[in-house]
Amino acid sequence: MKRIVILTGAGISKESGLDTFRDAGGIWSKVRLEDVATPEGFRANPQLVHDFYNARRRQLQDPAIKPNPAHEALAHLERQNAGRVLIVTQNIDDLHERAGSTNLIHMHGEMLKIRCDMCGSVLTWQGDIELFTPCPACAREGGLRPHVVWFGELPLMMDRIYEELAQCELFVSIGTSGNVYPAAGFVAEVKRWGRAHTVELNLEPSEGSSHFQERIHGPASQIVPDFVARLLSSF
Ligand code: APR
Repeated sequence: MKRIVILTGAGISKESGLDTFRDAGGIWSKVRLEDVATPEGFRANPQLVHDFYNARRRQLQDPAIKPNPAHEALAHLERQNAGRVLIVTQNIDDLHERAGSTNLIHMHGEMLKIRCDMCGSVLTWQGDIELFTPCPACAREGGLRPHVVWFGELPLMMDRIYEELAQCELFVSIGTSGNVYPAAGFVAEVKRWGRAHTVELNLEPSEGSSHFQERIHGPASQIVPDFVARLLSSF
């Protein structure tokens, strides 16, 4: 069984009803990322940032938002390949988990978790956060923020991710524009080790498309299940 690392981005959740960032009508066309996805923006106007994530946290819990066949196909692949499939997602939604994936790293954090800058606790959180919501762990006010990695902050679990990239025999990128580093550099990192086959599954060619040995374009809910079925029949 091959060791497989799968990088996912907002495109895999698009057909579940969650907006991407850089497509036409995407999130960054409606709100300035500098205002809501940077530490400076949070310091300047924390309530605006809380409102932005409160709205996305509420939307994610809408019953209409659920995993699509692409998320489900990846969970199936993991079950058939126990211990050999790792998903590294840039997404902060919980659709991979809800589809059944368990070997999963959220390198940009998670929408349904919060962090207290006073005591460092990371806690599951479904409700809204307001400016002075007290921390459930230390009871202090004013220290809560979304457990989300903002621009200029270090993504999570990078050592573990680079170890996995070095050892994988198949690297698959799904639904990401290849605009944001370090994730956009993962395919080059994999190629540096010279052992993995690299595949891009995306609606259209991404920024880094030319780095991939194989490129399959179309909606994730169609091309990902087909790709997984082909992969499993080749084992
Ligand atoms: N199926 C497959 N791919 C799709 C679909 C779909 N139905 N719809 C859109 N896409 C593709 C787009 O073509 C685009 O290449 O998904 C990609 C989404 O790109 P972005 O909006 O840039 O999202 P992403 O690559 O995940 O952004 C990376 O940037 O803003 C930060 O932290 C944020 O994690 C995010 C990071």
